[in-house]
Amino acid sequence: MKRLQDKVVVITGGGSGIGAATATLFAQEGAKVLVVGRTAEKLRKTVQAINNENVSYSVADVSKVEDTQRYVADAVERYGGIDVLVSNAGFEGSFKPITEYTVEEFDEVMAINVRGSWLAIKHTFPELQKRGGGSVIITASIMGLSALGGNSAYVTAKHAAVGLMRTMALEGAPLRIRVNAVCPGFIDNDMMATIHSKIAPGGEALVQGSLSGRVPLKRYGTSEEVARLNLFLASSDSSYITGSAYTVDGGTSGSLM
Ligand SMILES: NC(=O)c1ccc[n+]([C@@H]2O[C@H](COP(=O)([O-])OP(=O)(O)OC[C@H]3O[C@@H](n4cnc5c(N)ncnc54)[C@H](OP(=O)(O)O)[C@@H]3O)[C@@H](O)[C@H]2O)c1
Repeated sequence: MKRLQDKVVVITGGGSGIGAATATLFAQEGAKVLVVGRTAEKLRKTVQAINNENVSYSVADVSKVEDTQRYVADAVERYGGIDVLVSNAGFEGSFKPITEYTVEEFDEVMAINVRGSWLAIKHTFPELQKRGGGSVIITASIMGLSALGGNSAYVTAKHAAVGLMRTMALEGAPLRIRVNAVCPGFIDNDMMATIHSKIAPGGEALVQGSLSGRVPLKRYGTSEEVARLNLFLASSDSSYITGSAYTVDGGTSGSLM
């Protein structure tokens, strides 16, 4: 028996990286999957690569109320309900001291990472409740548990994501809805590539080498390694787990070196 047979899953940020890897794995495990993001081309590529009639996409900006209502309605119309939400869309923002950060930059990071997850849960909870419960996974970050100077908006946003997860686990428990957070470390995909060039334009390889050296396992993780943790948290294998933040970081957050 597949681990997510006939479960309906909504994955925001599903057009690339962790979201696309999660959609791929979940479809292999029997799920019906709606991937959500702003760029139709990326979403189309993800859906085509998975090549499964039970996977489709919805173009939406997770920071907007109407877009959120639309992608939730799309999932319900196409697949009959929602069992699992992976609130994964995220944006890293700028790397500079707070004195140089603009309010607009701060607001954009908060709108995507925090309001986006808050809205996703607000509009998905009633659907999960109709199915008698379900699982919500928020992609936070090790930056939601510890800090890196120079990235104040993202660190603040990911700490907020962990706080949101904890309070929603309490509201979800009587409804049999489990809510957990996944906290990746450095993952080898588009977001880290963007971060390398923001930190040191032209010196991307040096940044990656230096950051990899700080990981006890001495390498970046892959999106697929995060997807496997998502599968555990989405499936009944984690039936007694709620209100928890799981690191998938090669040991980074537990190390002083
Ligand atoms: N990569 C890492 O090292 C790392 C580490 C820790 C945590 N994370 C977190 O992991 C999550 C997934 O990121 P990733 O690593 O897979 O990087 P990614 O490939 O950059 O994925 C981010 C996804 O979010 C989507 N997105 C951004 N803003 C959106 C919006 N307003 N509405 C809808 N979708 C939006 C993007 O698509 P569009 O731009 O097309 O909308 C993109 O597909 C994020 O929450 C990120 O913060 C990543």
